[in-house]
Amino acid sequence: MNKLSFMDQFHIWRRKIRWNRQYKKGRWDYLKNDIEAPRYAKIIESIKQHSIKEPSVLDLGSGEGVLRMRLENEGIGYFLGVDFSKVSIETATNHHFKNADFKVADLHYYKPPQEFDVIVFNEAFYYINDTVRAKVLNRILGTLKKDGILITSIFKEGSGCWKYFDIPELKQLEFSKVASKKGTAYWKLGVYKKT
Ligand SMILES: C[S@@+](CC[C@H](N)C(=O)[O-])C[C@H]1O[C@@H](n2cnc3c(N)ncnc32)[C@H](O)[C@@H]1O
Repeated sequence: MNKLSFMDQFHIWRRKIRWNRQYKKGRWDYLKNDIEAPRYAKIIESIKQHSIKEPSVLDLGSGEGVLRMRLENEGIGYFLGVDFSKVSIETATNHHFKNADFKVADLHYYKPPQEFDVIVFNEAFYYINDTVRAKVLNRILGTLKKDGILITSIFKEGSGCWKYFDIPELKQLEFSKVASKKGTAYWKLGVYKKT
């Protein structure tokens, strides 16, 4: 099955409302401080190591644009952040980052408008309903440039998410584990290119 049921759509809609409420309350403000900095640093290091200079970057589930904030001095060609939370996208847009756009869209249905050198699922892939994860990933990969890279960050063990990246269409370039500043949390990060 690769279509969302009415109930799934309802749960996604409810989750979106919850995200908007949490962003309004500042529940995710902590992402801007140092605690999770090593995760963003690893993503930036992977971009530098495996991508071209001044790449175009698509950040899926971008929230308030924390990744773009941390890329400020890293020479990004173009940045597009996408999130279904209108509240987070408004905050991101209000930063007026150079060469950056932010768009409200649900990843279950989103088709990027152009090809990108780098596509990032930064703590967002596991929110995609498991009945359509493969389909969504396939659609997104259609807009990764031939020599582009896909970076995925997933909290802890990833609750069954990594198998979606173990496909013939992708070659793993790197797989690493990053701990938070306090050492109390960790993330796994995969970097892939198209075969
Ligand atoms: C844990 S936050 C990570 C935010 C950002 N990637 C970061 O690490 O700074 C997860 C984000 O995914 C977004 N999200 C969850 N489900 C989504 C969906 N179906 N479509 C688009 N965005 C979604 C949430 O609104 C939230 O901003």
